[in-house]
Amino acid sequence: MAVITCIQDLKDLHKKRTPKMFYDYCESGSWTEQTFRENTTDFEQLRLRQRVAVDMEGRSTKSTMIGQEVAMPVALAPVGSTGMQCADGEIKAARAAEKFGVPFTLSTMSICSIEDVAEATSNPFWFQLYVMRDEEFTSGLIARAKAANCSAMVLTLDLQILGQRHKDLKNGLTAPPKLTPKTLMDLSHRWSWGMGMLGTKRRTFGNIVGHAKGVDDIGTLSSWADGQFDPRMDWDQVKRLKDEWGGKLILKGILDVDDALKALEVGADAIVVSNHGGRQLDGALSSIRSLPAIIDAVGDKIEVHLDSGIRSGQDVLKAMAMGAKGTYIGRAYIHGLGAMGEEGVTKALEVIHKEMDITMALCGHKDIEKVGRDILLVPKGFAGEWE
Ligand code: GLV
Repeated sequence: MAVITCIQDLKDLHKKRTPKMFYDYCESGSWTEQTFRENTTDFEQLRLRQRVAVDMEGRSTKSTMIGQEVAMPVALAPVGSTGMQCADGEIKAARAAEKFGVPFTLSTMSICSIEDVAEATSNPFWFQLYVMRDEEFTSGLIARAKAANCSAMVLTLDLQILGQRHKDLKNGLTAPPKLTPKTLMDLSHRWSWGMGMLGTKRRTFGNIVGHAKGVDDIGTLSSWADGQFDPRMDWDQVKRLKDEWGGKLILKGILDVDDALKALEVGADAIVVSNHGGRQLDGALSSIRSLPAIIDAVGDKIEVHLDSGIRSGQDVLKAMAMGAKGTYIGRAYIHGLGAMGEEGVTKALEVIHKEMDITMALCGHKDIEKVGRDILLVPKGFAGEWE
């Protein structure tokens, strides 16, 4: 068995073991994928200051996100169709997160339902909401998340219409895959994936099928989003949803200072600086480049989290040093899941934890909560000088 030392190792196995259409779904950005690429290459632009002869014993990566204790400030991001990367994927990822002591966020577009995940775990998880045109269905989702004791609602603001990802169209992405000569050929190389899928009853969108009126087959996120997601969502609706939910609210998809100020006005508990992993507005700034201005504008008034581009513990550390209070990984844990199921998610978390912990020490710190911008070398003009 290969020795896993980094997320790239898990990614290689994920590619080998999971049907191409689902690996590609994970490893895609919209259109030219410029923002998808820059989310990671911009992290590389930031350098770290090496400090020496500092006592490194007794380090801590513990922190809090929205007041909840976390073993490290890394939550699992909501990822659609996770249960297609590996049978019962959301349950496996939620269990790995629970054991590790980090939050798990369940997507509205998950394969395992809210109730499935609640039954399989004992700690509260977070629920990510997409707002539908069918208000009754949206309210139903909120009520179900409350009944499942979810401890935060993550409201996604940057996907009321879908950015195009070419590979999904070319691959004919569906959940479960339609059996065509092309997919059958592909599946013939993925025996363990197929056996897992045969062994579960969860093979389509569990939060929707059987809950939304008259829906017994939705095919894909894109076909569902086109007809059902509410393109009219605005800040007034965000306020109404906040009241309806009544619990901790995280607003995901903020990339602009003006929107961060709006989120503050609404009274959210946290915002996630995010461009949806480069899957929505192609040509948008990377998250890490957008972060400093947002921190400067609202960082002392609201918790600012970051996703999009984190593939290592060094990236987590850089985001924290830049002022984020927490981060999220999506692809990094999905690679683990596709590679080795629950064990792979645990491995991804361990890899990231170790990278973050040792890198923090080599920067002269032993408490993640005390790490600040002084550990970073930020190239001139990093945030960009835009007209
Ligand atoms: C869903 O959130 C996606 O980006 O595909």
